[in-house]
Amino acid sequence: MSRSFVLILRLFLCSALIFTLSKAQADDNEITFSAYEKHVIQSLSGEKLVDKTDPTNRVSGHPDAIAMGQELFFDFRLSRDGTRSCASCHNPTDSWSSAYMAGVDNAPLEKHTPHLWNIAQNRWFSWNGRADTLWGQALGPMEHEGEMAGSRTAIARLIQSDGDYRQTYESLFGSISDELLQSLPEQAKPLTETPNHPVNIAWKSLDKETQQAVNQVFVNTAKIIAAFEETIVSRNSPFDRFATGMKTGDEHKQQAISDTAKKGLKLFVGKAGCVQCHFGPNFSDGEFHHLFLEKRQPGLSDGRYLGVSQLMVDPFNTKSAYNDAPIDGSYRSPLDYVYRNVEFRGQFKTPSLRNVVKTAPYMHTGELGSLDEVVRYYNNISERKVPGNHQETVLTSLNLTPDEQDYLVAFLQTLTDESFLHTLSQRAK
Ligand code: HEC
Ligand code: HEC
Repeated sequence: MSRSFVLILRLFLCSALIFTLSKAQADDNEITFSAYEKHVIQSLSGEKLVDKTDPTNRVSGHPDAIAMGQELFFDFRLSRDGTRSCASCHNPTDSWSSAYMAGVDNAPLEKHTPHLWNIAQNRWFSWNGRADTLWGQALGPMEHEGEMAGSRTAIARLIQSDGDYRQTYESLFGSISDELLQSLPEQAKPLTETPNHPVNIAWKSLDKETQQAVNQVFVNTAKIIAAFEETIVSRNSPFDRFATGMKTGDEHKQQAISDTAKKGLKLFVGKAGCVQCHFGPNFSDGEFHHLFLEKRQPGLSDGRYLGVSQLMVDPFNTKSAYNDAPIDGSYRSPLDYVYRNVEFRGQFKTPSLRNVVKTAPYMHTGELGSLDEVVRYYNNISERKVPGNHQETVLTSLNLTPDEQDYLVAFLQTLTDESFLHTLSQRAK
């Protein structure tokens, strides 16, 4: 063999090797998903988010109720001193949440204000699940001394005296009896913990029939607000465009999220285990878990255990006469299958992760300031576990590298529904 032929052969083999190696590297960089991962990704897609109406609320989905509910949501007159509306804390421009808001008289809030995205998808409401309907939840803040500190008689008087409210209200629920409501005290509500409080005494002074009539207006007002809250929907983020692109094979849509975010998505549905609780198109199982957040002995005083206890004795729960669901067996009260268990102590509801980048600080305590902190927290969660408490077995330290933690954050950033946020300021008055 001539020397020159050997040289050419060597050169050829060498370049073939280089070609193969560089091809392998390119393949390594391309982020591919297994059939299983693709299946899970589709289950998270906004296309799967179905609008819900609430059988327990007779005005759910009613256009007039939605319009009036929006007015009420932004109406400061629902609070005792006219300084708070629902939107003060659930501010649409802050993604229906707010970082540091206090209640009437600047009472500090006990928990971080949750956002209201896709709130109609929930079965339980509030961090600890103390309400089983959206309207049942809305009754709380209106009267809570640390939030709006209003009262049900003041609200009944408002609905009765504001011409527009009254007209819509009566078209939805029938007429309010002038005679019954005419001599209502300005502020009256039951306050069982402080029986000597003047508003409690004023409430006790009303006869049962009047109390009942006031309660009915109070509940109906909450049902109108809930009809509006049901329209707070988010399912159109870069991630959703990516998921649609993956389904249809549209290359352009698949570029809606960066490669870094795709790596984060792979971790989210795989090794990092996030999807075990943050699943479905609302990125939440709607259930409760103990994340060992509290610095004191965790979870003894609050959490799902307290929430269930409160819900069971709530006069406005789904077992009450205020539930509009048909009694034909097509509806089952969540109270039929809820029970109280000491293991519920310290458990809080899994929040939806849609628009999560806009709703800092995080967790019911608001103790984690950024998504980096949240991911770091999960990464080292084993350190937080306390022996003797119920162990959430899926929660163990993740051993993610710093790069992998960044990928997860990059993925969470793709859940922002910019188009909707853009129009929100027009909704706020
Ligand atoms: C002063 C601040 C403040 C005001 C005003 C306020 N909220 Fe809230 N909201 C909160 C906080 C804090 C929580 C969490 C409370 C908890 O879980 O213990 C919450 C929880 C909620 C939830 C439960 C969300 C979920 O994921 O389960 C809904 C729904 C809600 N509020 C609606 C309303 C409505 C409707 C109004 C007006 C009638 C209102 N809020 C007024 C602070 C406020
Ligand atoms: C065992 C169920 C479970 C798993 C697994 C889980 N989460 Fe959570 N997540 C929750 C619960 C419950 C909360 C609220 C806890 C609280 O406030 O007490 C939460 C809160 C959050 C929050 C804060 C949201 C807010 O609005 O405050 C983020 C962000 C988050 N999780 C992301 C993740 C990521 C990323 C992973 C994977 C590394 C993950 N979660 C794994 C159940 C879980």
